[in-house]
Amino acid sequence: MNEAIEKTVEAFRALLEEQLSRQERLEKGEAPKDYAALGTVTVGLIDGDGIGPVIMDCAGKVLEALLATEIAERKIVLKKIDGLTIENRIAKGKAVPDEVLSQIRTCDVLLKGPTATPHGGNMESANVALRRLLDLYANVRPVRIPEKKIDWTFFRENSEGEYVLGSRGIAPNDGMAIDFKVTTAAGSERIARAAFEFAKNNGKKSVTVVTKANIMKKTDGLFSEVARRVSEDYPEIEVRERYIDIMTAELIDGAVNATFDVFLLPNLYGDILTDEAAQLQGGVGTAGSANIGARCAMFEAIHGTAPRLIEAGLGAYASPFSILRAAVLMLRHISLAKAASRLESEVDALAAAYPNSGSADGPRCAEITDMLTEALKN
Ligand code: IPM
Ligand code: MG
Repeated sequence: MNEAIEKTVEAFRALLEEQLSRQERLEKGEAPKDYAALGTVTVGLIDGDGIGPVIMDCAGKVLEALLATEIAERKIVLKKIDGLTIENRIAKGKAVPDEVLSQIRTCDVLLKGPTATPHGGNMESANVALRRLLDLYANVRPVRIPEKKIDWTFFRENSEGEYVLGSRGIAPNDGMAIDFKVTTAAGSERIARAAFEFAKNNGKKSVTVVTKANIMKKTDGLFSEVARRVSEDYPEIEVRERYIDIMTAELIDGAVNATFDVFLLPNLYGDILTDEAAQLQGGVGTAGSANIGARCAMFEAIHGTAPRLIEAGLGAYASPFSILRAAVLMLRHISLAKAASRLESEVDALAAAYPNSGSADGPRCAEITDMLTEALKN
């Protein structure tokens, strides 16, 4: 019994020391990269697993067509990065193998297909590892449903909370398991600022802070307190607070859901609520997701690797709309606003024309690619 306690406390001590030095790094802060001032922006393209190679083939070809001039002038370099596959990750015993990470570090931004996350075990999700290794602290997920007057932008904290030690919980004995949730004031402040700045710069009326601070008193309590403090610098923006449970209900309540615009959430609630929101927009295959840090940013589809589609032999029918919407977010992030709007309107039109994309009755991904590259040539 005592031995189990000693071992658990020792393990906890190591985690605590690590988290305290992370906190220290965060408190120092980091200056953001100015993409518009870079001569060449290197865009890393990462396939991922399952349907990843299918939809990334589409995204790569579409970007080549859309950015033909910028590529010819070497303002943009598209760089394919191999090896972020579940097979290679298992072989190397690392969520992101070293040689893959060093390739990734040569890029300014990344467009990434979904990567498989093994259940249980100790292998960390590649997604979560990359967000952590590159300190991509803001997960920004827009969801729009124009006919319902819904225009939401989710600012999900992406670097701490339930995720930072997610694969490093402790089991003191076979009958007990403990996980950790870590929230820092510095980590909460930078995501809160990102949300309020976005609201201010985009004419949004309110920011809704979503927590479960009545139960997760320490961590969510701190998140909510910091959000309130940051909000004082933005007196023109209304602050709303909701608990995550009632928020999931209000999100599907047509009487009120269109009154929300910007959401600010800790990591796990942001994960859950954005799937619900994407489903309302037409499915998790329809939303794009931006992971933004001070020095690098990664753009991805909100969905996973679609193993059921692959197992049924239907991988070729995967829908590329989510990864293409992620590409739109990426183009805006690197100050290619015109190219972004051009791609966005083509994607919106095709997504409306093919609501069955992603199923065997819909078009193949390669057909969508052909239609898009054709449209973008002119
Ligand atoms: C997401 C995904 C990831 C997450 C998984 C794949 C680890 O669900 O990006 O929302 O939980 O963040
Ligand atoms: Mg998710």
